[in-house]
Amino acid sequence: MRIRQVKNLKLGKVVLLCSLLMAAVSAWAMSDKQRAEIESRIQPAGGVCLEGDSACGASAAASSGAPKSGEDVYKGSCQGCHAVGAGGAPKFGDSADWAARGKQGIETLYTHAIDGFSNIGMMPAKGLCMSCSDDEVKAAVDYMVDNSK
Ligand code: HEC
Repeated sequence: MRIRQVKNLKLGKVVLLCSLLMAAVSAWAMSDKQRAEIESRIQPAGGVCLEGDSACGASAAASSGAPKSGEDVYKGSCQGCHAVGAGGAPKFGDSADWAARGKQGIETLYTHAIDGFSNIGMMPAKGLCMSCSDDEVKAAVDYMVDNSK
């Protein structure tokens, strides 16, 4: 009888340990899910989309005949940096930022957008939109300049 009790006690400990472990595992799983939720909530408003990246929506898909509007190109390839001024990018809608850039003349802005430009930061060629034509990049520059006066 006495031996049995001891055994039961041991068994009880094992059961307790197991349930503690289960609780720990489920708590970990929960926080993993919560972390994912938090990450999705704190994601920046914009992102850089590479050509053919389906996760970024249609605007990043390879060009399909009709030229993209300046707004489309901006939304697909430029706003990731230019909406917030990442890395010193002239900010969309900021007239002071764009007035300073505009002094160089629109042709220089086009060239810098197409070929890339690095003075204080890093403006990648075509904003990494390799499927964009030069005209589409120019349209995106116009779109930013026109909306930043
Ligand atoms: C990865 C971030 C990033 C992306 C994407 C990006 N830019 Fe930029 N852009 C910058 C930065 C940073 C600068 C400032 C560079 C400097 O002054 O050194 C800049 C500067 C510029 C300028 C001003 C150049 C000058 O001569 O002063 C233009 C015009 C421009 N970008 C257009 C675009 C267009 C159009 C797109 C989308 C097709 C785009 N950018 C996408 C970061 C980016």
